[in-house]
Amino acid sequence: MKLLLSKYVWFDGRYALAEKANVPITTHAIHYGTSVFEGIRAYWNGENLHVFRLDEHVKRFRRSGQFYNISLNFSDEEISGAITGICKKNKLKRSCYIRPFYFVGEYGIDLHVTEKAPTNVAIITFPFGDLFSKNGITAGVVSWRKFSDRSTPPQAKMGGNYLNSIIATQEAKRNGVDEAVLLDHNGNVSEASGENIFIVRGGQLITPTLASSALNGITRDTVIKIADNLGIKVVERDIARSELVIANEIFLTGTAAEITPIISMDSKKIGDGNPGEITKKMMDKYANIVMNRDDGRYSHWLTAVY
Ligand SMILES: Cc1ncc(COP(=O)(O)O)c(C=O)c1O
Repeated sequence: MKLLLSKYVWFDGRYALAEKANVPITTHAIHYGTSVFEGIRAYWNGENLHVFRLDEHVKRFRRSGQFYNISLNFSDEEISGAITGICKKNKLKRSCYIRPFYFVGEYGIDLHVTEKAPTNVAIITFPFGDLFSKNGITAGVVSWRKFSDRSTPPQAKMGGNYLNSIIATQEAKRNGVDEAVLLDHNGNVSEASGENIFIVRGGQLITPTLASSALNGITRDTVIKIADNLGIKVVERDIARSELVIANEIFLTGTAAEITPIISMDSKKIGDGNPGEITKKMMDKYANIVMNRDDGRYSHWLTAVY
């Protein structure tokens, strides 16, 4: 998939033409996966471009690096300003994806990464629509397990972690489904390759706890908060693998996937094979909130670019 990258990127404090922002082949992150990233969306509603939950993304961006003492040498305000700034610089008036990342630069082959290791920071952006069909996708449990705190911290959004997602996705595609669901080290449901998972049973939303190695997703948090306000009970607990196939509804959440219904799991139809009622309710609410068409209760989640 080739990206339609916007003309300018932000690189170490300056705007640069995308093709001029390069790093040497000796960059530590290329060799060891010592990169940290975020995925953020901004929504164009015909009047303004709004970055969704910018503060939470910037906080997680810094926290991810702290697990590994990888320094982000810009303040939260500078990063937030650069994120809205790069949208402005590119005169973006379409919904887009924003990818800030930082990584260990020239640090030889040293595995003792400390706060002193030099880092570079960049932000790229590109117009972006739906990642998955909003009519629902198929999914299946794969044999690869989600890595856990027994090996590396699942709460750190590190480049290297995504090898687990890549090998899981390859297996899912070989099995003929759209998306992989991974089990945690105990065999309970963890999450999908790049999304959190929710099931609906008895009118309640159920999602795995962070102890199941699920990322503390910002969309997951959004769904929990809006469900609460809609009077839908949310339970965070272990989900046994077999609960997936008897769930009334299943959906995934993520910045890129937004809220995506799963209509078939392990070749079994979920519900009647169409997005369920609660899933559709959450999708509608989410779309209204990000487009600033809701009642204003969640407007603090939106940062206007223009
Ligand atoms: C492994 C993984 N789980 C879950 C998510 C969803 O997180 P968020 O809603 O913050 O985008 C992502 C995306 O960042 C992810 O990569």
